[in-house]
Amino acid sequence: MIPESFIQELLNRVDIVDVIDKCTPLKKAGANYSACCPFHNEKSPSFTVSPTKQFYHCFGCGAHGTAVGFLMEYQGLSFVEAINELARMVGIIVPQETRDPNKPAPKVVLGLQESLQEAAQYYKTELKKSPRAIDYLKGRGLSGHVAAKFQVGYAPAGWQNLQSVFPHYESETLSVAGLVVENEQGRRYDRFRDRIMFPIHDQKGQVIGFGGRVINPEDTPKYYNSPETPLFQKGHELYGLFLARRAIRDAGRALVVEGYMDVVALAQYGIEYAVAALGTATTPFHIAKLMRQTDEVVFCFDGDNAGRTAAWRAAMNALPALTDGLKLSFLFLPKEHDPDSYVREFGKEKFESEIKTAMPLSQYILKHLSEDNPLQSQEDKVRFLNEAEPIMRQISAPRSAMYLRKKVAELAQLSVDEMQSLLKLPGLNKTPVQARPKLTRTTNSLYKRFCLTMLMQPALASKDDLLWIVGHSDDEILLRQTIETCLVHPHSKPVVIMRELEQKVDAKIMRELEHELNALDETLDLAQELVGARQQLQQIYLHRNENELLAKISEKPLSALTDGERNLLKSLGSKPKSK
Ligand code: GTP
Ligand code: MN
Repeated sequence: MIPESFIQELLNRVDIVDVIDKCTPLKKAGANYSACCPFHNEKSPSFTVSPTKQFYHCFGCGAHGTAVGFLMEYQGLSFVEAINELARMVGIIVPQETRDPNKPAPKVVLGLQESLQEAAQYYKTELKKSPRAIDYLKGRGLSGHVAAKFQVGYAPAGWQNLQSVFPHYESETLSVAGLVVENEQGRRYDRFRDRIMFPIHDQKGQVIGFGGRVINPEDTPKYYNSPETPLFQKGHELYGLFLARRAIRDAGRALVVEGYMDVVALAQYGIEYAVAALGTATTPFHIAKLMRQTDEVVFCFDGDNAGRTAAWRAAMNALPALTDGLKLSFLFLPKEHDPDSYVREFGKEKFESEIKTAMPLSQYILKHLSEDNPLQSQEDKVRFLNEAEPIMRQISAPRSAMYLRKKVAELAQLSVDEMQSLLKLPGLNKTPVQARPKLTRTTNSLYKRFCLTMLMQPALASKDDLLWIVGHSDDEILLRQTIETCLVHPHSKPVVIMRELEQKVDAKIMRELEHELNALDETLDLAQELVGARQQLQQIYLHRNENELLAKISEKPLSALTDGERNLLKSLGSKPKSK
C-alpha cells in the first residue's frame, strides 16, 4: 500500500499545470490556464486548469478532477500507476507501507512545506532586528516595500538559531527541507547563518527553498542555496515567477536574468516581470514554464563572459520549445554591467528601450555561428554548416525553421534545396502533432471505476461513500445504487450484484459497466484503487461544496457528526490551500 501521507505530500508537491501541460499544451487565460479539451472534440477551448485550486474542469463535457485523475483519464492509468508517474515527474520515490507489524514503517517526511514557511517567517522577523542586515539592503538601494514584497529575510549568525522556531530541531523534516545540516559527528546546525535570505516560491506561492547571500564580502560562497529536496528542483523553478506573474501578463513579456539581486533590483525600479534561474543554466523546463505565461521572453544576462556563455546555453535549450508564436530575444549589456547595476545607473525607461532592441533568437544564432568564422573559404562554410545543422534539426516550428534555413543556406552560399538534399533536414509542412493516446475510458470513468472495484470486492463499500455523491448524473446514480447494493451484499460475487443493479439502473449504462468489468485488469490492487477513487471523489465533492458544507457541518455539535463528516472537517482543516 502507498501511505496516504505520501499521496498527500505528493499532491502538494505536484503542480497540475505542469502535469497537464505535458499532455495538452496550456495557455494562460486570466488566473487560469485553458486548452481545447483533450477528452472531447472541440474547436474553441473550454477546458480550464486552476493553479490555485489544483483542479481541471471542462465546461464542454464536464470532465473534472485532480492531477491524479487527469493522468488516469488521459493515459488510461490505474491509480497506483498514476501515483508512480507523478512521483517520477517530481523525482521522488514512492514508499510502500509494510503491513508486517514487526518491520518498522517506512519514514515519510511530512510538513516540509510548513517548515519552510515557518523558517521564512522567522528570517523575516530577524531582518527587522538586524540593523546590519537592513543597512546592507539599504546600501544596495532596496526599499522596505520591495524587501517585504520579496519576503527578504535574514538568518542570524550562530549555529542553532532555528531551535527557537522548531522545538523538534532533531526532526528529519528540517534536514530534508534543507534548513539544517548534519556533520559527520551527527551534530546538527543551521544551514543558513549570517545571510540575507531570499525565499524561493513555487507557482502556487509556497516557499520551497531559499537562496542566502553573505553580507561580509570576504565570506564564501557568496550565495548558498537550499539543496534539491522533494519540494525543490533547481532546474524546474524560477526565482520570482510567482510574484512576477501579473506583471508578465500586463507587460506581455518575461525577462530572464541571472541573479536574485537582479530580479529584486529590477522590481525596485518598476520592472516587475523579471525572473531568474537559480544559479543553473536556463533549462528547457524553465522555458516551457515561461511560455505558458507569455509569448515573449527576453534573456538579459550579465555583460561578462560567463553571462554570454549562459545566454548561448539558454538559446540552445530553448530550441526544442520554440513555436512560431513565440518571440525570444537576447539583450546584451555592456561588459561591466549586470541588470541590477544597469537599471540603477540608467533607470527603467532606458532599460526598457534596450529591451525593445534585444536581438531576436535567429539573428543571435547566426551572429554567434559566424562570429569567429569569416565564411570565406570552402572550409569556413563547411564548418558553418556543420555547426548550424544540429541547431536547425532542433527547431520544429515551421516558419521559424524555414527562415533560419534560408539564412543559413544563404551564408553557406547554397540554395535551400541544395542544403536540404545535403543535410536531409526534417520536413516542415506541419507542426508535428503529438499523437494523442487513444482514450479507452470515458470522462466520468472515475465513478465507473469506483463501481468496478466495489463490484469486485463489495465488502469494500462504505456507507460514508454515499456522502460524496450529490449529483444526479447517470454515473452518480449508478455509483449510489452500487454502493447501496454492495452494502446489502458484501460477500456476493460481481454477477450477483450486477443482477441486483439491473433492476435499478438504466440498461445502456449496465451494458457499459459490464463491458468495463470484462476489460478490468485482474492484477490491480483493488483496495488501493478504491482508496484512490474515494480520495478523488472526496476532492471533487469538497471542491464543489466547500463553503456550503462547512457552514452546514459547523452548525452541528461535534457529537452529532457522522464519521464521514468528521473526516471531511479534518481534511478541510488540513488542506487550506484547496480553497
Ligand atoms: P550580487 O549582485 O552580487 O548580490 O549577486 P547577483 O544576484 O547579481 O548574482 P551573480 O550575478 O553573482 O550570480 C548569479 C546567480 O548565480 C546568483 O543569484 C546565484 O543564484 C548564483 N550564484 C552566484 N554565486 C554563487 C555561489 O557562490 N554559489 C552558488 N551556489 N550560487 C551562486
Ligand atoms: Mn549582481
